[in-house]
Amino acid sequence: MDVNFYAKGKHWCLRGYLSIVRNVLKGKGRSFTYIDLFSGDGICTVQKPIHDSWDGPPITALKCAKNAAFDFKCIFNDLDPDKIKNLNDRIAPYKDFVRGVYNEEADSVYRKILTQLNREDMNLFYIDPNKHSDISWATIKDICEFESTAYYKGKSFIRRPELLINLMTHSMQRGGVPYDPDSIDKCLGTSSWREQIESKSSRTPMHKIFLDTFLNQLQPYYDKGKNVFVMEVRQLENKSLLYYLIFATTHPLASKIFSSYQEYVKQYQKSDLMNEYLSLDARAKGLTSLLDFK
Ligand SMILES: C[S@@+](CC[C@H](N)C(=O)[O-])C[C@H]1O[C@@H](n2cnc3c(N)ncnc32)[C@H](O)[C@@H]1O
Repeated sequence: MDVNFYAKGKHWCLRGYLSIVRNVLKGKGRSFTYIDLFSGDGICTVQKPIHDSWDGPPITALKCAKNAAFDFKCIFNDLDPDKIKNLNDRIAPYKDFVRGVYNEEADSVYRKILTQLNREDMNLFYIDPNKHSDISWATIKDICEFESTAYYKGKSFIRRPELLINLMTHSMQRGGVPYDPDSIDKCLGTSSWREQIESKSSRTPMHKIFLDTFLNQLQPYYDKGKNVFVMEVRQLENKSLLYYLIFATTHPLASKIFSSYQEYVKQYQKSDLMNEYLSLDARAKGLTSLLDFK
């Protein structure tokens, strides 16, 4: 499927997270399930600034599953029947690692998926919709409440699914005003954001108000001080915010995981890949790139 170049940011993060899981669970005899509620068709293609294509998240997860030294399975869903057909073709070589493929609305299919999961296991929900109105808070809340008591080094904690969410603050606004406020209420599960936006004194950018509202909603389940990590993906040229990627886990090692994750995320922001993109994009726009002088 055609994506924007910036989709590489979320795929980089997902790959990094899956590598952490692979290291943490190696040889521990545990089970892990990756659940992708908006999976796409398994391949990502960009046309600009150059034609490029790479594995979509389902194939990345399946390759990881194939090389994992523990039980690693995947569940996929997408509303578009053509994408699911193409995905089924692409994932056929990995069928031993697939627990289910669905073609339904994310807001309803998650109930079926939860019945397939074991709440004592480690389960990751990757939630990457096109727009905020494709997922409601009621769904996220039910996923957060899929909990069990677990132990780490003799101490108990509440295990909840791990979350990697692309919060679509971009589609929540248009022309500097909230777009379709009722759909924002449904996505955030509250209308408390309205007061802050209406308050003329608030200088906080609108996307940050949406983010904070969402993190407050998550707070009873994942403490934003220690269980949540947020990555901002910004446009390279003008640094305007494209999307927030929110990662949440209740595991007691969260802060350790997040600090190594943060380093990994920084590598992406500095990577040759991004510099190469900038230079190609500049050339495509007819500007002279500094690299032309090398
Ligand atoms: C942003 S794309 C996902 C891309 C993919 N996760 C990736 O990282 O490349 C969103 C996908 O959600 C699907 N979709 C749209 N509305 C949906 C819904 N209500 N429930 C499930 N899937 C939906 C679209 O067909 C599209 O493939």
